[in-house]
Amino acid sequence: MDYNSIRKSFLNYFESKGHKIVPSASLIPNDPTLLFTVAGMVPWKGILQGTEPAFAPRVADVQKCIRAGGKHNDLEDVGMDGRHHTFFEMLGNWSFGDYFKEGAIEMSWELLTRVFGLDPERIVVTTHISDDEATAIWKKITGKDAIRLDKDNWWSAGDTGPCGPCTEMHYDFGADLPGGMPGSPDEDGGRFVEIWNDVFMQYDRDANGNLTELPKQNVDTGAGLERLASILQGVHDNYDTDLFRHLISATEDIVGVKKTADNTASFKVIADHLRSVGFAIADGVLPSNSDRGYVIRRILRRAMRHGQILGHKGALLSKLYPALITEMGDAYPELAREEKRVVEIIQNEENAFADMLQNGMKLLDAELPKLNNGVLPGAVAFKLFDTYGFPLDLTQMILRDKNIDVDVAGFEAAMTEQKERSRANTKGTRVLWESQTELPATDDSAKYAPVADMQSRVLAILRDGEFVSSATPGDEVEVALDKTNFYGTQGGQVGDAGELLRDGAPVMTVTEAARADNIVIHKGTLTSDLSLGDIVTTKINEPQRQQTARAHTATHLLQAALRHVLNEDVEQRGSKVSPDSVRFDFSFGRAMTADEKQAVEDLVNKWIAADMQVSHEEMSIDDARARGAMALFGEKYGDTVKVITAGDVSCELCGGTHVYHTGEILKAKVNKEKSISSGIRRITMSVGTQAE
Ligand code: ALA
Repeated sequence: MDYNSIRKSFLNYFESKGHKIVPSASLIPNDPTLLFTVAGMVPWKGILQGTEPAFAPRVADVQKCIRAGGKHNDLEDVGMDGRHHTFFEMLGNWSFGDYFKEGAIEMSWELLTRVFGLDPERIVVTTHISDDEATAIWKKITGKDAIRLDKDNWWSAGDTGPCGPCTEMHYDFGADLPGGMPGSPDEDGGRFVEIWNDVFMQYDRDANGNLTELPKQNVDTGAGLERLASILQGVHDNYDTDLFRHLISATEDIVGVKKTADNTASFKVIADHLRSVGFAIADGVLPSNSDRGYVIRRILRRAMRHGQILGHKGALLSKLYPALITEMGDAYPELAREEKRVVEIIQNEENAFADMLQNGMKLLDAELPKLNNGVLPGAVAFKLFDTYGFPLDLTQMILRDKNIDVDVAGFEAAMTEQKERSRANTKGTRVLWESQTELPATDDSAKYAPVADMQSRVLAILRDGEFVSSATPGDEVEVALDKTNFYGTQGGQVGDAGELLRDGAPVMTVTEAARADNIVIHKGTLTSDLSLGDIVTTKINEPQRQQTARAHTATHLLQAALRHVLNEDVEQRGSKVSPDSVRFDFSFGRAMTADEKQAVEDLVNKWIAADMQVSHEEMSIDDARARGAMALFGEKYGDTVKVITAGDVSCELCGGTHVYHTGEILKAKVNKEKSISSGIRRITMSVGTQAE
């Protein structure tokens, strides 16, 4: 039975048992505790927990999953045997408060033995040590005695959330293979392979590990399609099933080398990684330096290294992607739908790494003869990382074959040192301010309109790297006050300029307000004496504030226009909002055409001309999300957030200052657009009088 037939038989069977059949959810979970969808139950976590209503009492699907980071991580094992994958498909059926242990076990058994025709003698079952009920049900239905296990028979997706005891079905590939029964010390030998797991979701686990009974008893099951296929196709290695044979033969054609016993690991890794990278990018993940984007970048770079082992140079996965569509495009139409974009992104990423891989390998080869204790120094691993883009695990993977370890602690120390260096360079005196732990947070709640001059007390003065009690005219200083209406540089928006006055006379010209944590620092030059405890009036440069506000609102319009003209996946990666000018970094895999730049500029100007209202509202983060406000991925937000909405074109969480009508922006002009790193573009735009 090939993959397409197995998927169909599975879904048909559960449909005939009253299950609603649904398509796979995205690999990007709607769940901050997970990087990827790691199991079929992830989209249903809220239903299982009882916080969301069930849309049907019985559901079944085939879910795309990635286990390559966090609690569920199989990355290191791929290629080592015939069983491990970073990407796999999980067949699953669920009962949301409907059938429980007996119904679940009956259906699993019937499907395996009657529909798929597996020999009942070859199926071994396990139950949780505490679960008398499931054990008795197995006995009744099959006559089998379950093996009762402890930790292997308890399942949860994350450290918290729904969980419960489970029962697993294992297939016996025969006595000619090494390996012992489930639960025995040599259970991983390969003879017995787990094929299906029925989890009885009875409990919710909180952050302290406490279990509470869920309101409803649910069933969550998962069967790895690749393993089932190997059994149904009479092969022991998942990579010998039809789907993988075809992907491997496409790889053979591209690299011009046949698979042999010696190079089989590389072919397996490439086939596996093609699926993770291809599916993840099709679902909207972009290779990057953080979170799931970095997982995908690492996987892609590992695949390139294995291509190199096979003697191949340069792009590989982007060339193989069409073969993935041939194999899996029927079951997952998004693969073909997103082809152009996915291939472009993979190509960019591969092109960017190709030379670094060659050069990094040269460096590594030159270092190896110098090692005397079989350990690569952390500094070398860091250089490979920093200069050649080798993720640490790639270096480790390369050296594993040679039995060389990497000094991971040394690598991390080099990394920390570099971070500190760059912090000291870019943040200037911030470290000094952060050491002033007794200084209270500045009350800067007046930074939003209406702008009023405020009376504030001087709390700290920093001059030449030292905190002083007073300073004199001409001194360059940084001053902290108890309260201020200056906006301190934050969230990409450059801080206000202005003046501090005393009794109506100027004391200090403020060139920029910055921030160190929650202290606003007024930077500038004194025009009069200033001492701790002085009361000053804070006066911001209002025309400049207005220029910055219109640049900030224009940035939101720019992002909306980019998503409109290019595609919905464009995401902000950084920004600098200055008076009348905008610099905006965003995820996108290629250069924009002249027509696209013009279309973006036209759209922003159309929205400016429409003079849409810009609302500034405070609300809870949940309400903001419910409203669909865009947030920066990976950014931490407090419970209460500000939401800036421009007409019906843009709605974003944002702590910056903004205009109240888009017409105040006057005009926008796109200047340059260029690449700043792989998959990230930078666009600059002038607004206001500068654009005019
Ligand atoms: N959620 C269960 C698993 O992944 C079925 O094994």
